Amino acid sequence: MIRILFVCLGNICRSPMAEFVMKDIVKRNGLEDEFCISSAATCREQIGNPVHYGTKNKLAEFNISVEGKYAVQLKKEDYDKYDYIIGMDSMNIKNINRIIGSDPDKKVFKLLEFDGSKEDVADPWYTGDFNIAYNDILKGCEALFKKIILDFHR
Ligand code: 4NP
Repeated sequence: MIRILFVCLGNICRSPMAEFVMKDIVKRNGLEDEFCISSAATCREQIGNPVHYGTKNKLAEFNISVEGKYAVQLKKEDYDKYDYIIGMDSMNIKNINRIIGSDPDKKVFKLLEFDGSKEDVADPWYTGDFNIAYNDILKGCEALFKKIILDFHR
């Protein structure tokens, strides 16, 4: 089982988008049973709130539902529960490291690293641009999926 936790600031825009895009990729490849995928926030602000309509509407274009997802906050214990803890931007990475304390197993990544980029996934909460967020998140998730499959066959 490969366990992935996507993390952003509020857990209502980017990380749930990554969670459901990644679940869709895995499902289309018939590998649902091999993955456990979730998402969480670094801040408390949106805890318990549903996914932002911008993310919900963007994913609806691809028949991806975000039904049943409500924001939760990253906990220190999550470090042991996941193989990958993936932030969307550099501030997320700082906050993830603050919450988990240390990363001895090198589980913490920034999403676009998998696509060979140092860029952040810009926050649509501030930019209003869910298309750019979606394109970046799809690129990152496809690259992550490829890496996991390649690692598996190594
Ligand atoms: P996200 O966007 O980190 O992509 O979910 C945000 C959502 C809410 C807030 C900040 C960012 N907020 O401050 O409530």
